[in-house]
Amino acid sequence: MTKAKLTARNVDVFYGEKKAIDDVSIDIGNGVVTAFIGPSGCGKSTFLRTLNRMNDTIAGARVTGQILLDGEDIYGKEMDPVALRARVGMVFQKPNPFPKSIYENVAYGPRIHGLAQGKADMDAIVEKALTRAGLWPEVKDRLTDAGTALSGGQQQRLCIARAIAVSPEVILMDEPCSALDPIATARIEELIEELKDRYAIVIVTHSMQQAARVSQRTAFFHLGKMVEYGETSQIFTNPREVRTKDYITGRYG
Ligand SMILES: Nc1ncnc2c1ncn2[C@@H]1O[C@H](COP(=O)(O)OP(=O)(O)OP(=O)(O)O)[C@@H](O)[C@H]1O
Ligand SMILES: [Mg+2]
Repeated sequence: MTKAKLTARNVDVFYGEKKAIDDVSIDIGNGVVTAFIGPSGCGKSTFLRTLNRMNDTIAGARVTGQILLDGEDIYGKEMDPVALRARVGMVFQKPNPFPKSIYENVAYGPRIHGLAQGKADMDAIVEKALTRAGLWPEVKDRLTDAGTALSGGQQQRLCIARAIAVSPEVILMDEPCSALDPIATARIEELIEELKDRYAIVIVTHSMQQAARVSQRTAFFHLGKMVEYGETSQIFTNPREVRTKDYITGRYG
């Protein structure tokens, strides 16, 4: 792999006394899609949230170890978590547009981060983000409609546009298709393929088929540990660990 975008070393996460992530170290590459798989409760979402400090917002959650973004400690004193979350954007399981217009959903981030020089510039940023998210043709004539008036699949692409609008370097997606039908899912998967050259993308998924289709690297988690990490094709055809094999062959999960 080329130089890692994100490097995690010996990361533990605690909720109160309970350890939810145990000594995870991983290098996440640029220009590739990395899938996190594993049974429910194994810590996929918890670990994903360490990568942009979303765990900071959870009372009782504590992260130890080191996570570097381009060599810079994201838990370091100089790191502003709000600025970090613009660089490392997140898309959630359930589409969660703001109760605002389609336009405002996308313009919100660039506005608070001061990325636009006036209205024409903001219009261009909004159009570009919606275009990259594959939504522009469907919404260009209804930008003032509420974001929540869109279909579920459109809302999820709006949330992707919102993440992209602040020019992130990494996009974290936590089961982004689990609330979508197969057609909307296929659309998001195509979009991930189109976006991957520009960003480091990490996707949590319960679908082995989806992990195999969209990712180049896969990490298998079990009971808070990262059991195995490698090329997606290797993980699915020739796993080294028995626990990985048992999971991908449907023995548990
Ligand atoms: N906010 C929280 N407070 C306390 N414990 C939590 C919290 N969030 C998660 N946990 C616990 O941490 C462990 C890992 O949970 P996490 O949500 O990361 O798993 P997951 O792999 O994403 O599961 P799923 O596939 O069901 O989404 C679980 O035991 C869970 O109960
Ligand atoms: Mg989860």
